[in-house]
Amino acid sequence: MANSPTASLLAAKPAFQRALADWYRAHARVLPWRESPSLYKTVVSELMLQQTQVKTVLPYFARWLAEFPDFAALSAAPEARVLKLWEGLGYYSRARNLHRLARNLAALPAPPRTAAEWQELPGVGPYTAAAITSISFGAPAACVDGNVVRILARLTADATPYRDSASASKAFTPLANALLPAVHPGDHNQAMMELGATVCFRQSPLCLTCPVREFCAAGRQGDPGAYPRLAPKKMEQLSVTRVWSERQGALLLHLTAADARRFASMHELPTAEQAGLDKTLVTRGKLLAKKRRGITRYQVTESIYAAAAPRGKLQPGLVWVPFATLDTLTLTGPHRRWINELLAAR
Ligand code: ADE
Repeated sequence: MANSPTASLLAAKPAFQRALADWYRAHARVLPWRESPSLYKTVVSELMLQQTQVKTVLPYFARWLAEFPDFAALSAAPEARVLKLWEGLGYYSRARNLHRLARNLAALPAPPRTAAEWQELPGVGPYTAAAITSISFGAPAACVDGNVVRILARLTADATPYRDSASASKAFTPLANALLPAVHPGDHNQAMMELGATVCFRQSPLCLTCPVREFCAAGRQGDPGAYPRLAPKKMEQLSVTRVWSERQGALLLHLTAADARRFASMHELPTAEQAGLDKTLVTRGKLLAKKRRGITRYQVTESIYAAAAPRGKLQPGLVWVPFATLDTLTLTGPHRRWINELLAAR
């Protein structure tokens, strides 16, 4: 331990913190949740930024703030509207959690100020709780996500093989907390995120312009790309047969139940099973499109076939939606894109 990269880094802590803070002040991206920050903007941005890049979030954040400017406006909104504004951003339970979180806060005399209390709220895990409370209240909680793991693994040339990113995050949490300054911990956390997003890339990191290269063991060895050592994610392949069924200017869609774990209250083209159609017969019809989408650890291939409308009473969840009103519904992002593409090609 005495001469380990971790010990050297901790020994140089004040210089490391200063180098990072100076760089952040000079190079931080101007982002809407950083201008005149508020607890509300921080909470909304942190939920939107879970699993999602800054550039994807920006237009959603702007529309959201315009329609729901504060916790009160959000808690008064109907869930369908909340979901509509989230359409295309993915991981829709975040939208519902944010809505519930606003309603929970409205019932409290004051928002909680510690990371532990925030973790009790819907949709708030250790990372988000640390981000919200360090940025809004100066709480001493380090944010540890994939970006931060990558930086810390490189700084310390840590060759431990990790099973997945959750176990790596857990392993690096003590070091991340040890490096956190007592003053402006929120800026330090955001500086680490910024370094991960703009310099310490997964592939081809920009070591020559890195503000903390003098503290970086992997940088000195010349092999930062070797860290962290994470087992590759196992992706499962799935195939789904979908149907495109039209009748009198309306398209057949499937509405997922409100209490479903995934895509609750959202519309998609129905699978053959959901439409009550025989899959073998459907696949003898015209193949309109073959698309791929990633859903958590699944790589899904969706084949969309033209199919005659199902006869008799519709199966549960099926709805005929006039083409003219498609825009008012909430669809999943990929299905919105595919339907628009198929309509344009007709
Ligand atoms: N990713 C997660 N939180 C972030 C923040 N506050 N700024 C930039 N990227 C982030």
